[in-house]
Amino acid sequence: MLDLAQQLETVMPTALTGSVARTVGMTASVADFPAPVGALVEIERKGSAPLRAQVVGFHDKLTVVYPFSGLDGVRRGNRVRLARTSRWLRVGDEMLGRVLDAEGNAVDGKPQPCLAERTRFDRQPPHACTRPNIDAALGTGVRALDGLLTCGRGQRMGIFAGSGVGKSVLLGMMARYTDADVIVIGLVGERGREVNEFIERDLGPAGLAKSVVVVATSNEPAVIRVNAAGTAMAIAEHFRDQGKDVLLLMDSLTRFALAQREIGLAAGEPPTTRGYPPSVFALLPRLLERAGRSPEGSITAFFTVLVEADDPNEPIADAVRGLLDGHVWLSRRLASKSQYPAIDVLESLSRLMPEVTTREHQQAATVLRELMAAYRDHEDLISIGAYRRGSNPAVDVALELQEPIKKYLAQRVEEPSTLEEAVAGLAALRDQAAQMLGRHKAQAAQGASSAGQSAVPSLPAN
Ligand SMILES: Nc1ncnc2c1ncn2[C@@H]1O[C@H](COP(=O)(O)OP(=O)(O)O)[C@@H](O)[C@H]1O
Ligand SMILES: [Mg+2]
Repeated sequence: MLDLAQQLETVMPTALTGSVARTVGMTASVADFPAPVGALVEIERKGSAPLRAQVVGFHDKLTVVYPFSGLDGVRRGNRVRLARTSRWLRVGDEMLGRVLDAEGNAVDGKPQPCLAERTRFDRQPPHACTRPNIDAALGTGVRALDGLLTCGRGQRMGIFAGSGVGKSVLLGMMARYTDADVIVIGLVGERGREVNEFIERDLGPAGLAKSVVVVATSNEPAVIRVNAAGTAMAIAEHFRDQGKDVLLLMDSLTRFALAQREIGLAAGEPPTTRGYPPSVFALLPRLLERAGRSPEGSITAFFTVLVEADDPNEPIADAVRGLLDGHVWLSRRLASKSQYPAIDVLESLSRLMPEVTTREHQQAATVLRELMAAYRDHEDLISIGAYRRGSNPAVDVALELQEPIKKYLAQRVEEPSTLEEAVAGLAALRDQAAQMLGRHKAQAAQGASSAGQSAVPSLPAN
């Protein structure tokens, strides 16, 4: 919260007015109107309500504003009035279980929540020096994540996937089964149908009860879609300030970037990287850095990133990967085999897993990863029946444990899971693997001694 002196500094004279000089695409340019970037303005129209808009930049002597709805009815010379420069959002516990728009208004058909507190809409990320280390794990409620890609409270992860491979279902499961105190979900740029489907099918009443959902659909103007991400973040920050462990789920970061691309191009920025203007790459870290741990609480965040044609080197995916503490890769190959959640464990990584797990847990995860890698490396041979059992003990174990591993990684939508269960299940698989490996090694040694050889490839058991 700002003190009075700081608040006064942010106050601008709202009597500032200008007039519409021209329109270009979705934007209007206003003459004699030195309002700052980010300010909210109103364009007066004859015969209809004033049109709200946001200042996005300047061009020559004109101020470029991006309206919150279509420019219908706007004429040259219409008066433009500065409405607000500093942006605040009403917040409170009454938001839980509600679906809000980018400005924090309820859009679920129920009465507006009565909110007693307020928070700044565009806060700066906490300073690097004030951030405590991330040292405790968060149960996400998804076994494959908790066991093999454990996340810390305050960690930022990306979920990279093409369309239709199970992002929304995965986010819904996390919201329902996580042990976070509060879940904030930002749905940015989705189609309207997807939003309803997510809230009713994937989230369900149980998930919604401890969540706040912020929605801006694809048909809304780009500024609203960008603001929705900021609103979801500001709400998460409010709960973190109250000492809560918050889980923030943002779907999707790619559509947030696309919205900022529209704004940047409209404000006159040059497209640089594959059509994206520089502001997109400046805005991404500003948003992502706001998540994390603070002295009071934590925001653990999962941002989905759409990977076009499953191409991992798409510019947004590339930029985002460097800003996050890990990534979960959803594979179309697994989804097509109905293996859900379609997490490709070997392609995914949680950078903070070593900080938030015991040595024993890490060793068990390593054993499982090595078995999966051994299986993957020999999959071609195995599938055509050319692999000869007994030629590699690690592959033999991987083959034998294939079904139990699949069963461990698979999780039905209605099946809850806890961090403790995920760790215990992993330890059981490790013990089974160690036993089998012992047996296979003994058999191989027997076979080898009768054939006059001795060396056997080894798998670090535990
Ligand atoms: N855990 C799961 N169990 C069973 N089916 C799933 C699971 N996850 C996804 N699916 C199937 O995949 C479809 C697409 O998933 P969805 O989450 O909507 O994809 P995305 O959000 O990535 O476009 C779902 O309609 C469902 O049939
Ligand atoms: Mg989806």
